[in-house]
Amino acid sequence: MPVCRARLPGTLLRGLALAVCCVLAWYLGQVLSVVMPPQAISLAVSGIHRMAVDVPRVTAPAPRRQKCSLWSACPPGSFAFQVASGGGIQKFPKICFEDEIITGKGKDGTGRGMNIVAIDAASGKRIASRHFDMWVGENSGAMVKFIQEIPTGSFILMATFDEGSTKLTEEAKKEIEKLGSTEIRNIGFRSSWVFVGAKGFSLPANMKKEKMNHSDKSKNRYAGWPAEVQLQGCVAQQRRL
Ligand SMILES: *[C@@H]1O[C@H](CO)[C@@H](O)[C@H](O)[C@H]1NC(C)=O
Repeated sequence: MPVCRARLPGTLLRGLALAVCCVLAWYLGQVLSVVMPPQAISLAVSGIHRMAVDVPRVTAPAPRRQKCSLWSACPPGSFAFQVASGGGIQKFPKICFEDEIITGKGKDGTGRGMNIVAIDAASGKRIASRHFDMWVGENSGAMVKFIQEIPTGSFILMATFDEGSTKLTEEAKKEIEKLGSTEIRNIGFRSSWVFVGAKGFSLPANMKKEKMNHSDKSKNRYAGWPAEVQLQGCVAQQRRL
């Protein structure tokens, strides 16, 4: 029986074929490296590089910046807002309404304690902004008076800076509850708190209106103070009352 008719095992055959291919590929590489000028290779490489750089050209315009740094524009008939508490004593609170930063570093009426901004809910225009120190002095009475004098039909935005609880009286808490707050009673030493309320009407029940973070030695982001909290979104314009 001739040798060539002997049946070689399949795996051995496949192994042989692979070995032959490897040798051929290596040989082809050797031949090309001798035959081709080196510039041709570097040109081909830079061509690939240019393709990679040029092809994914971005044609969409850069996203437009929205009022008060919101992710998307507020629908017609509504106003954009952002309320951020202070962070420790370095990071100032921020209250923005329709892209006007009313409370912030270097802005009148910004300071330690409770920062309050009142906005005419029909026009979206600022009515008043002030802060009331809740660490030194007795300022809860003045704050209650300030809130009571804000006309009905106003949005009221509030943010703590540094310390907002020590001199906050029961009377002041009640006044803040009248604006829609349900958490002011939980405020503690150096808690970060932000709130969006209304006078003379109610904001939607499903709207997030309040956020608080308490000081906790094991978790505090700033030495002695918790992380800041913030709220942002849109509030519907109101008819003049
Ligand atoms: C509260 O602040 C701590 C740091 O101070 C932070 O780790 C935590 O995520 C904050 N919680 C909320 C609800 O903001």
